[in-house]
Amino acid sequence: MEAHKQLTIGLFGFGVVGEGLYKVLQQTPSLKAEIRKVCIKNPEKKRDAPASLFTTSREELLSDPAINVIVEVIDDADAAFEIVSTALLNGKAVVSASKKMIAEHLPELLELQEKTGQPFLCESAACASIPVIRNLEEYYDNDLLHSIKAIVNGSTNFILTKMFEDKLDFAEALLLAQQLGFAESNPKLDVEGYDAVNKWAILLNHAYGIVEHPDNILFSGIQNIQLSDATVAREKNYDIKLVAQAKKLTDGTVAAFVLPQFVKHDEPLSFVKNEYNGVVIESGFADKQFFYGKGAGSFPTASAVLSDIAALRYNYRYEYKKRYHHKPHELGNDFYLKV
Ligand code: HSE
Repeated sequence: MEAHKQLTIGLFGFGVVGEGLYKVLQQTPSLKAEIRKVCIKNPEKKRDAPASLFTTSREELLSDPAINVIVEVIDDADAAFEIVSTALLNGKAVVSASKKMIAEHLPELLELQEKTGQPFLCESAACASIPVIRNLEEYYDNDLLHSIKAIVNGSTNFILTKMFEDKLDFAEALLLAQQLGFAESNPKLDVEGYDAVNKWAILLNHAYGIVEHPDNILFSGIQNIQLSDATVAREKNYDIKLVAQAKKLTDGTVAAFVLPQFVKHDEPLSFVKNEYNGVVIESGFADKQFFYGKGAGSFPTASAVLSDIAALRYNYRYEYKKRYHHKPHELGNDFYLKV
C-alpha cells in the first residue's frame, strides 16, 4: 500500500468494538482513514451513525474497488473467516479482531497472506490495548525468548477481582462484565477459558512461530474457583488469576498452557486487576519486562485496531520470521505434557 494513499475502510460489525472504532476514527482525522461502508446483520437496530453508512450486503464491501482495507470485528468465527479470506483474495489489506477465527485458522491465514501478499494485522485480538503482538514479532529473537506469563482475558480477571476484593458473587460479577461490554456474547467462552486459549494460540504464533490449534493446548477457566479458594490464597499472600504461560525448554520445545494459578502478591501479575491484562516476558539481555493495559472494552480494543490501520500506512506486515522454527507435528500432544 502506498504511504500517501487514502485508507478507505469497509467495516464488518458495529458492536462494542466496531462502534468504538467508528468514534475513534472521527477523533483522529490526521490518520486519513475513513469508513466507507459498514456491514451489519440486523438493519432494524438503532445505531448512532448515519443510516446510509450501513448495509447487510457483504459483497457491497468486498467487491468495492474503492475499499482498500477491510476491518472485521464480528462475533461469528465462520463468517469472519469467509470475509477475511475473500478480502485477502480480492487484494484488500485486512485488520481483524476475531480471536477464535484467527486461532482456529492460523495455517490457512498464513497461506493466504503468502499467496496474496496482502497484510493481515490483528493486534486487537490479544490483550486489546497492549501492543503485545507487534512487540513479540519485532523485539525478541526467538532463541532469546525464555518465557511469557500473561493475563489475557479481561472478563475473568474482572470477575475474580470483583469476587475476591469487592465480595460480589460470581453471577453479579459476570453480569457487570457483560454490562460493561467486556464479556463475549456467549460468556462461557470467557469463563471456561476458551477465549484465553484462543488468544494464547495467537500469541504463541507471534512469539515462537508455533502453529498449534487451541484444542491441543491444555486450558481451564475459572468455572470451578470458589470464594473459599481465594480466602485460603489470600491468607498466604497469593491471588488467584487465570494465567497463560509459555516456557522454552532446554530441548528447544515450548511448554504452554492456560490455567488458574496462585500468583504471589509481589509478582507483577498480581497488580493486574479488573479488565486489565498483563504480560511478563523474560528474555536474554532484556531480562524481565512487564506490559500492562486494558484488555477489553470498546475504546481500548478500538485503539489496537486503529494502530493496525495506521501501520498499514507504512506497509507493516508480520514477517512470521520464526514461523518454521517449530513444526506442529513435533509438538503434537506432547505440547502440554512437557510442563
Ligand atoms: N471477552 C474478552 C475479554 C474481550 O474479556 O478479554 C476482549 O478480547
